[in-house]
Amino acid sequence: MTTAVIYHSVTGNTRKVAEAIAKSLSCAAQPVKEYPLDSEADVMFIGGAVYGGRLDAVMDSFLKALSPQKVKRAVLFSTSVKESKAIGLMRDILVRQGIAVDNETFVCKGKFLFFNLKHPNKTDLEQAEAFAQNVMRKR
Ligand SMILES: Cc1cc2nc3c(=O)[nH]c(=O)nc-3n(C[C@H](O)[C@H](O)[C@H](O)COP(=O)(O)O)c2cc1C
Repeated sequence: MTTAVIYHSVTGNTRKVAEAIAKSLSCAAQPVKEYPLDSEADVMFIGGAVYGGRLDAVMDSFLKALSPQKVKRAVLFSTSVKESKAIGLMRDILVRQGIAVDNETFVCKGKFLFFNLKHPNKTDLEQAEAFAQNVMRKR
C-alpha cells in the first residue's frame, strides 16, 4: 500500500505536523510543489492552513489537479490559530474531485504573530503521530 504525506506550509507549522506524521509512517513528507502529480497513493495525508481566510493558491491548484484514479483516499490535517477553516475548504475541493475523504482529521494550534507561541509543540506532534497510526490501523 502506498502512503503519501503532502503539505503546504507558509510559516512552517503544518510542515512540522507533516514531518511528524511522515516519521510515524516511515515515509517522507513532501511539499505540494514537489509531489509528482502522476504518482498514485492509496492513502494521501494532506495538510494545509488558511491565509487571508482561504487556502493558498498553491494548495488550491494542487487539490484541483488530483483525481480518484490517483488518490484512493485522503486524510486531512491542519494547523490554525483557532478552528481550522482549512479542513472544510480542502474537503470541499476533494469531494468535488470525486476523492474519498476520511471523516477523521487532525488539527492543532499553530503559532501566528503573538498567538499560540511554541505551537505546534511536542505534545501536538505526538498527537499527530498517534492520529496517523490510528488512521492506518483502522484500514
Ligand atoms: C499571511 C498569513 C495570513 C493568515 N490568515 C489567516 C486567516 O485569515 N485566518 C486564520 O484563522 N488564520 C490565518 N493565519 C494563521 C495561519 O492559518 C496559521 O498560523 C497556520 O498555522 C499557518 O500554517 P503554516 O505555518 O503551515 O503556514 C494566517 C497566517 C499567515 C502567515
